[in-house]
Parts: sequence; C-alpha cells; structure tokens
Amino acid sequence: MSKVLVLNGSVIPSEKSNSHEMARVFLEEYKKVNPKDEIIELNLNKLVVGTNTLTTETFGTYWSEDEGMKYINQLKEVDKVLVIAPMYNFQVSGMLKNYIDHVALANQTFSYKYATKGESIGLLDKLKIQILATQGAPKGWYPWGDHVAYLKGTWEFMGATVAEPILLAGVKVEPLSTQTPKDIVSTIVLKLIEAAKKF
Ligand SMILES: Cc1cc2nc3c(=O)[nH]c(=O)nc-3n(C[C@H](O)[C@H](O)[C@H](O)COP(=O)(O)O)c2cc1C
Repeated sequence: MSKVLVLNGSVIPSEKSNSHEMARVFLEEYKKVNPKDEIIELNLNKLVVGTNTLTTETFGTYWSEDEGMKYINQLKEVDKVLVIAPMYNFQVSGMLKNYIDHVALANQTFSYKYATKGESIGLLDKLKIQILATQGAPKGWYPWGDHVAYLKGTWEFMGATVAEPILLAGVKVEPLSTQTPKDIVSTIVLKLIEAAKKF
C-alpha cells in the first residue's frame, strides 16, 4: 500500500477549477488501479505551510517542528505526490512557492555534503511526483514564465522522480475559454487516465 500526498496549489474553488477537475479524473482512475492506497490532501489555502511567507520576521520559526520539519517528515513518509499547479502571474501560486520554501531545506531534502564539487544530491530519492498544471495562455507564449519547468526541476533537485508533467494550456483563450472545467478537461482525459495507470 502506498501513500499519496495531494498538494492543492489552486486558489480557485474546487467546482470551478480546471486543475481540480484534472486531479479528480486522475485520482478516480488511480483509485481503480490502487484501491488500497491512502490519499492525503493538503489544501495549501488553509495551512500555515501554504500561507506563511519567508520574511525577516518568520525566518526564526520557518523550519520548526510545527512548520517546515513537519512537512519535510511527511515527504519522507509518503511514496508519491500529486501536485495541482495552476499558473498565476507567470509562476506557481504563492502558496505552492511557500510550501516549497518550507520543504527545500539543505541537509534535509538535498545536500551538498557528499556531492562532487559544485553539485548537489537530492535526499527525497524514494518519492514519485506527478505534476498536473494549468495556464490561461497557450504553451510557449512566455517561455520565461514556465511554472512546469520550475516545479519539475525543483522536485528533481530534491531527488524525486518526476513523471511526465501534464499541462492543460490555453484555458483562457478560445475555444476552451467558454467551456466548463469538465468540458475543458475532457480534451485531455486519455492522457490523464494513462498517467494515472502508470503512477
Ligand atoms: C490571479 C490569476 C492570475 C493568472 N495569471 C496567469 C498567467 O500569468 N498566465 C496564464 O497563462 N494564466 C494565468 N491565469 C489563468 C490560470 O492559470 C487558469 O485560469 C487556471 O486554470 C486557474 O486555476 P485552476 O486550474 O484551479 O482553475 C491566471 C488566473 C488568475 C485567477
């Protein structure tokens, strides 16, 4: 039995959210294939780890047992992470960035200690990641704002194995912009099902 952590990095209410609809389809299939697995959801909207930004004020407690370390330990206990990642202003949400600021910690999730000069090693080497991403613009409109590349690179830096990310792009331009999340996501349903089976 595996433990799957779901990181909700969307600010949109679930019933109106494209990325939530992607996760719903993905998890429905995943549960068919892995009925005994435990699914743990972190709604970053509601948690300190999602809402607490690193500042001079918060620096002293950011990686305490209640905040960063709790979630770092969770990452060491689970087997897989499903990342729900819409683009807001050319990047992941502030909540997802806050989460990463908490868990990307030297000597906990990555280390320079045993690596050859200038390189690092990731310490989360048992983790498997699936990124489900959305963006309003078609893919490639602004290559400098690639939130999928940022996420993939960050998890790989921490040692995880990242499955091929699924990006649902162009949701704010026609023809998708006038459709419901269900209809929009139906355009990539086979991709989601295939990925869920393999995860
Ligand atoms: C505040 C805000 C900022 C956004 N910024 C961008 C952006 O910079 N680039 C883009 O392509 N889409 C942008 N979008 C569109 C969202 O990525 C898209 O609507 C996404 O589906 C919203 O989250 P959801 O997947 O949970 O529905 C933005 C949406 C909102 C609400």
